[in-house]
Amino acid sequence: MKIGVLTCGGDCPGLNAVIHAVTSAANKLGWEVIGFRDGFEGLLPPGDYMMLDTRKTEGIMPLGGTILGTTNKGHFVAKAGKGDIMEAPAESIEKARKTLELLDIGGLIVIGGDGSLTTGLQLYREGFPIIGVPKSIDNDLDATAATFGFDSAVATVMDGLGRLHTTASSHKRVLVVEVMGRHAGWIALYGGIAGGADVILLPEIPFDYDKIAEVVAQRGARGEHHTMIVAAEGASARGEQQVSVDHSKEGEIRLGGIGARVATELENLTKKECRACTLGHLQRGGAPTNLDRILGTRFGVKAVELVQDGAFGQMVSYQQYHVGAVPIEKAVHKLRLVDPEGEIVAAARAVGISFGD
Ligand code: F6P
Repeated sequence: MKIGVLTCGGDCPGLNAVIHAVTSAANKLGWEVIGFRDGFEGLLPPGDYMMLDTRKTEGIMPLGGTILGTTNKGHFVAKAGKGDIMEAPAESIEKARKTLELLDIGGLIVIGGDGSLTTGLQLYREGFPIIGVPKSIDNDLDATAATFGFDSAVATVMDGLGRLHTTASSHKRVLVVEVMGRHAGWIALYGGIAGGADVILLPEIPFDYDKIAEVVAQRGARGEHHTMIVAAEGASARGEQQVSVDHSKEGEIRLGGIGARVATELENLTKKECRACTLGHLQRGGAPTNLDRILGTRFGVKAVELVQDGAFGQMVSYQQYHVGAVPIEKAVHKLRLVDPEGEIVAAARAVGISFGD
């Protein structure tokens, strides 16, 4: 038996833990493992791949990124999430089919987020033996309570807020920290709570600049002359559109810039010095947290089990402390967003965090 594994979409901490787990579990069954490079691109003839074995993957778990490389562009890109759903071109699919046939691959483990698993689902429907593994720092995939990569991103935000807090306080400034997450506010919500933010701006809760200015003023009246604001890149003021860097032709729109906009507006409204800091790709780099290493390992082992069971078209899923599986189609085309009325937002409000609403 020979299986393939590939990582696609944006990288995140924990990908190498999955690759190591897949390789180890498969080798134990006596299977060969082929790692395709740069996501689905590695499937294009003649195939860009490397043979994986436990000697090659030993020690990779603490490394950020992916030893296989990845891309969120290329010949198979499927635009999903909030955008229109596009399909990978038939020509690319037929080319990939040839490569897999030639290499005699009996199962292909696709480690990806919403867009990549949308392509994975299309390939499965075209007869490919696909198993999905959910990854994303955004934690926005439906049908799984967690994706690996998220915890590491939150740890980076928490660390960043800790550092920015001291400079904001020393200068009596308002600091707006822009974080990733696309259309979901999970990173901002968790990172903001853990890092002690005063205001958290989420895509799920439209905000008013005046309300944030009120928070700054109230804090000032209490003798707290600095304010920490976490803004999700997808957050927007009531009645305004999300701020984006560009609308590239392939893949998702690139969000970014809301932090700077909030800082400018608040400087006008509060007459205080405001600064914006975008954490950007720092949130995707570095070593995975213990939680992501463990989740990645469990996901990789489960993926091999699913190949063994012939349960193609399934995605590994984390539900109620248990790693199981769901059909890939249940996980894609619908983002898992923060519930504005939910318990986590309520807890944040209860400890005095404002959502600018
Ligand atoms: O989906 C992961 C993510 O990091 C998002 O949070 C962010 O909007 C996007 O990818 C950035 O993508 P790129 O690496 O192409 O700039």
